[in-house]
Amino acid sequence: MVSQVQTQDRDAVGRPLPVFPEPAPLASHGPARVIAMCNQKGGVGKTTTTINLAAALAEYGRRVLVVDFDPQGAASVGLGVSPHELDRTIYNLLMERDASITELIRETATPGLDLLPANIDLSAAEVQLVGEVARESVLSRVLRPVLDDYDVILVDCQPSLGLLTVNALTAAHGVLIPLECEFFALRGVALLVETIEKVRDRLNPRLHVDGILATMYDSRTLHAREVVARVHEAFGDTLLHTVIGRTVKFPDATVAAEPITTYAPNHAGAAAYRQLARELVARGDAA
Ligand SMILES: Nc1ncnc2c1ncn2[C@@H]1O[C@H](COP(=O)(O)OP(=O)(O)O)[C@@H](O)[C@H]1O
Ligand SMILES: [Mg+2]
Repeated sequence: MVSQVQTQDRDAVGRPLPVFPEPAPLASHGPARVIAMCNQKGGVGKTTTTINLAAALAEYGRRVLVVDFDPQGAASVGLGVSPHELDRTIYNLLMERDASITELIRETATPGLDLLPANIDLSAAEVQLVGEVARESVLSRVLRPVLDDYDVILVDCQPSLGLLTVNALTAAHGVLIPLECEFFALRGVALLVETIEKVRDRLNPRLHVDGILATMYDSRTLHAREVVARVHEAFGDTLLHTVIGRTVKFPDATVAAEPITTYAPNHAGAAAYRQLARELVARGDAA
């Protein structure tokens, strides 16, 4: 008889890797949990994580809205919209009280995944909002009419801790922090955590750090393993079990303006974002 050896899988820092079950179907939708994708460092995987986590949650039957909240419009491009061709975007919703959010939301090629696009116009909002009453809660007001239509709303923040990001944190229930697995990854995280704590104290008591996500992980290098070990030392189980490997399939999918879950559905990168979706649902951080 073959002996049954139970080998439990381990995550990148050696913790036993739980099995995250397939999320149960939802009988009805909403109200949405709003998650801000946040790190003031650019190029760490915020937009990639927004698009692919959103697509993975949509595959599991969740109704998901991606809010592009970066004037670069990368989330819009990545979901198939040319931002420079838009004459009305989230900028208009922030600046005009009577603008309608439902007119600006568009469906994407992924069923269940909608997009509220942005373009360079949004860069003016940072300055123009400064004089507004309750300038930190403008995004919260903008999203209110559609909260009941979605299970999850993912806000793709720009790489800064300015007023737009503070608006995202004020509108959010949770924050996800993507961290690139490289030596200086932890630089700046203290400042980000301080900003999150200030917003929690002053504007949004429910705000919760849902998790830190290690991105661009290369398991072949000692260096990447050291970085995740350091993140785990500093943040404990806020570090998610799921890590996102480094692969050119992500930039390729961006060029194709598709989530990796449809561009390369059987690739390890697609599997990683599906696992992230299941992990967040299992933690109670997504519907
Ligand atoms: N896991 C990954 N492996 C390889 N390249 C990645 C990965 N995640 C993101 N990228 C690429 O790195 C660049 C920056 O990622 P992006 O998600 O736009 O970061 P951010 O939104 O934080 O600026 C993009 O070209 C993206 O395609
Ligand atoms: Mg981005």
